[in-house]
Amino acid sequence: MAVVLAAGKGTRMRSKTPKVLHKVGGLAMVDHVLAAARSAGAAKAALVVGPDAPWAAGRGSDTVSVHVQAEQKGTGDAVLAAKEAFAGADAVVVLYGDNPLVTAATIDRMLDRVLGGADLAVLAFRTDAPVGYGRIILSESGNVVAIREEKDASPEERAITLCNSGVMAIRAGAPLDALSAIKANNAKGEYYLTDLVEIGAARGFNMVWEEAPFSEVMGCNDRAQLAEAEAEFQRRARAKALETATLIDPATVYFSHDTVIGEDVTIEPNVVFGPKVAVGDGAKILAFCHLTETVISPGASVGPFARSRGGAAIGPGAKIGNFVELKNAALATGVKVSHLTYLGDASVGEEANIGAGTITCNYDGVNKHRTEIGAGAFIGSNSALVAPVSIGEGAFVASGSVITEDVPADALAIARGRQATKPDRSPLASGRDTAKRASKG
Ligand code: UD1
Ligand code: CA
Repeated sequence: MAVVLAAGKGTRMRSKTPKVLHKVGGLAMVDHVLAAARSAGAAKAALVVGPDAPWAAGRGSDTVSVHVQAEQKGTGDAVLAAKEAFAGADAVVVLYGDNPLVTAATIDRMLDRVLGGADLAVLAFRTDAPVGYGRIILSESGNVVAIREEKDASPEERAITLCNSGVMAIRAGAPLDALSAIKANNAKGEYYLTDLVEIGAARGFNMVWEEAPFSEVMGCNDRAQLAEAEAEFQRRARAKALETATLIDPATVYFSHDTVIGEDVTIEPNVVFGPKVAVGDGAKILAFCHLTETVISPGASVGPFARSRGGAAIGPGAKIGNFVELKNAALATGVKVSHLTYLGDASVGEEANIGAGTITCNYDGVNKHRTEIGAGAFIGSNSALVAPVSIGEGAFVASGSVITEDVPADALAIARGRQATKPDRSPLASGRDTAKRASKG
């Protein structure tokens, strides 16, 4: 099983938001860790939180138990807060909630070491900038014998570049029982989980260590580290997208933890995917789009400069052009919305054509209302559709209309002031000016 520690105060983040709720790829760090534990062989997870953590309630489930660490007395104490969840487990792997990039494969590797006979397995990493991390002290024969926290380390120990990632697997029985022997005799006066290693060395435990790249185990104590983790997350997401999609300039495309990209998709530069976007096979996302909560069907084309959000669905082969915003709008197959349009709380039938500058007036200052546009309808440019309103199949709305009443199928609706044309009444027109214009041709 996995124990995820998330009770720390996170003061270095300097935020009203608890540290582990800060997001990487649009997902809270602690949820990345819980997801990795779930994908690994850890059937159950115990989440340890502080006393004032209303956010934790929604994270409990059949497989995740939530435990409160009454006082933040250190990582060793935090693990013990979940003690009741250990019953029946063969091994416990401790994960830190501010370590969002740890992978399921690594968690499995650590559990395998203790299930394969080790008492304790420590996950290490190397960095040229070890400041702030616990240093791993090895014996001459290369066995791990202690982990020294920065504040307690001697100058020689501080020079060590092999660091503790925080991931530790502990076999049930004597090794797990040894947690209660941890004392708070260190510079911070905290119960350090890392002291389990020195206790284990004294008790003759069989202790092993594994190594992971820094990019996978970096801890996010402050916002600079959070930004580094985000950069690494994006590198991974881009690499994954490149398996099936062409990205003209991958470094300028930003993904969310749940972005789904189909086969043969093309993504131009400077595209941001917020949460809940799926892009169907063969679709094209042109430059400078910002997309969240949107399903893009196969063969659709979106952008450049499109914004889609709030539960939008773009049908197969549909075309969303520049400066178009969609919000909670369902567009059927082959719909064209080519320029400068806002469709909010709307549904648009197959092959309808929405002219430039069309606006659904969905909000009356109090409530939101829907606009229904039938299949094959044509909305002329610069029309305002004042919701609630429906435009029937095959209906035609003349450009510049302000539509406040339903338009039946196949009808032509014109809702604008009639044009009055008055010869020679231009304020610019006088006999002389007219002559000048004429002579200029
Ligand atoms: C910890 C390790 C350090 C390691 C580093 C890796 C210890 C003593 N030190 O240091 O060796 O190099 O992680 O990133 O473990 N937490 C609780 N309750 C507490 C204190 C902390 O739940 O009382 C949680 C925090 O929410 C956090 C995790 O434990 O998710 C780690 O705590 P943190 O204070 O970030 O430890 P570091 O100083 O980073
Ligand atoms: Ca940390």
